[in-house]
Parts: sequence; structure tokens; C-alpha cells
Amino acid sequence: MVENLKGRDLLSLKDLSQNEVLGLLDLAEKLRVNNQKLLAEKILGMIFAKSSTRTRISFEVAMLHLGGQAIFLSQRDIQLGRGETIKDTARVLSRYLDGIMIRTFLQSEVEELAKFADIPVINGLTDSDHPCQALADLLTIKDNFQSFNGKLAYIGDGNNMATALIWAAARTGMEIAIASPKGYKPDEEVVQAALKEGAKVTVTDDPKEAVKGAFAVYTDVWASMGQEDQQAERKKAFQGYQVDRKLMAFADKNAIFLHCLPAHRGEEVTDEVIEGPKSRVFDEAENRLHVQKAVLAALI
Ligand code: CP
Ligand code: NVA
Repeated sequence: MVENLKGRDLLSLKDLSQNEVLGLLDLAEKLRVNNQKLLAEKILGMIFAKSSTRTRISFEVAMLHLGGQAIFLSQRDIQLGRGETIKDTARVLSRYLDGIMIRTFLQSEVEELAKFADIPVINGLTDSDHPCQALADLLTIKDNFQSFNGKLAYIGDGNNMATALIWAAARTGMEIAIASPKGYKPDEEVVQAALKEGAKVTVTDDPKEAVKGAFAVYTDVWASMGQEDQQAERKKAFQGYQVDRKLMAFADKNAIFLHCLPAHRGEEVTDEVIEGPKSRVFDEAENRLHVQKAVLAALI
């Protein structure tokens, strides 16, 4: 199922078929118990224009476990940060490396890099998508429920995680209900495109309605990287969208709590919920490593 992924890019789960997504999850499960040197002598370049703990370290460790190596490229320190074009960077890096992971602002920058690189390009987060995180989230749901037969409630900002989870749901048949305040709803184009493909997506203002009967409740920060100057206005706009014990009580009794991390306790989630028995956030973070290995092994 993942054979077709060799040499391809991973810019969004939108671009993968259902079989490819499920195949990556199967491969992640295999690599979790049995490390193989599938990428001996292969080298991944990792361009970061934003901070990272999980993405950087899980990709780096994944390459080492698979027998290869990763090179950390802070955008500030390579010529890209001084104005060298993405298309020149893509062609130069393609002469040295076997794959590129990039974390940046615009999805169009990642698309441009992929267009001009002749090695696989992996999206390690943009303002509008985060496919590798969504794969780890799917694996965590699969670990807990052995299926995607249920509703994922996403409470909060309709930006990168919402988009990534909409496509994750679309590719697995999982339902997704998103509750966001006015002005912070998920991208209507993404919602319509997913609906057109038969995805089960609903969008509401009401967190309780979204969470009702859900098997997993997900949230993310109210101000993402690059939005630090909007912290105060966003804190106001997201009042009533905190995942707390009372909101979790509307979910299924076996529901789990997920968060891509980093979390702001006391804002999008209470300390009680993230530290509570339903929380799976550290399994979810660990799963980044396993899915990263699967993605790298399949693409490179
Ligand atoms: N969840 C996630 O992508 O974390 P980092 O920002 O630490 O990479
Ligand atoms: N929405 C968050 C996700 C971090 C992993 C951000 O973009 O900062």
C-alpha cells in the first residue's frame, strides 16, 4: 500500500489515498516494534523557520534509527533566510540530500520547494496544515480504539491542525466535528472539498454539541506560532472554548483527550484534563516518532 509513495512528497494528507494513509499507519506499527536500517546512508535536510521540539527531534531520531542521518537547517542560518529563492534552494539541496522536511509559514512555500526539488519534500507544519501530526493522532486513536469508527471533536482555532484533522478524518472514514468561534472557523474551501469527497465534517459554534458522544476530544493553542502579537484578542475570542472536565463529560465515557502540544494550560485546556486519566498526549507525542519513520521509509 505504501509502495506507491516512493519518491513522492507529503504536503497534506489530502494528497494521499485512504490506502496510503492506512498503509503508513501499518508501517508505523511495524517499525515501532522492529527498527530496520531501511535508510542506511540516506540524509534528510530539515529546514525550520519556526521553533520545534517534537517535529525536529522525532525526525532526527527516526533517521538515526533507520540507519541514516538528519541535518538541522535553521532558516536563519542558510541563505534562504537572506533571500536566496526557494527554487534555487530546492535544486541545490536536491544535489546533496535524499529528502527535505520543512517547517515554515505559507503552504505555498512548501509547494514551491516540492515543485523544484527532485527529492521528497515533507511538510513539518505550515500555517495551514500539519500532516505528520495528524498521522500521529490517527495512530493514537487506532492504538486506543482499533478503528476509526467514531467522532473526533476538535475544539478551537480552525487553522493548521483543523485542516490536517479534516483530511485525516476524510481518509479514514472517521467523523469530525469542529467547534470554533466566529472569525476562527476552519477554511471553508477545505471543509467543502472534504465534504465533496464524502467526508463526515460538521462545523459549529457550540463546543458541547461537537463533543457530544465523541470518542476523542482534541484541542490546540489559541495563538499559533507567528501569532504571538494576537495573544490578547485571541484569548478573548476563545472564551468558552476551553476543554475542561465539564466539557469532557459530554463525550463518550471512554473518550480520550488529545493535543498536538505544546499546550497552554489554563487556556485551551485545564491542567486537570491534560494531566487526567483520559489524556493520551504523551503517547501521541511518542507516536510522532513512529509515523515519522513510516513516512521517511515510504517516501525515501
Ligand atoms: N506538535 C508539534 O509539531 O510539536 P513541535 O512544535 O514541538 O514540533
Ligand atoms: N497550531 C500550532 C501547532 C503547533 C504544533 C501552531 O501552529 O503553532
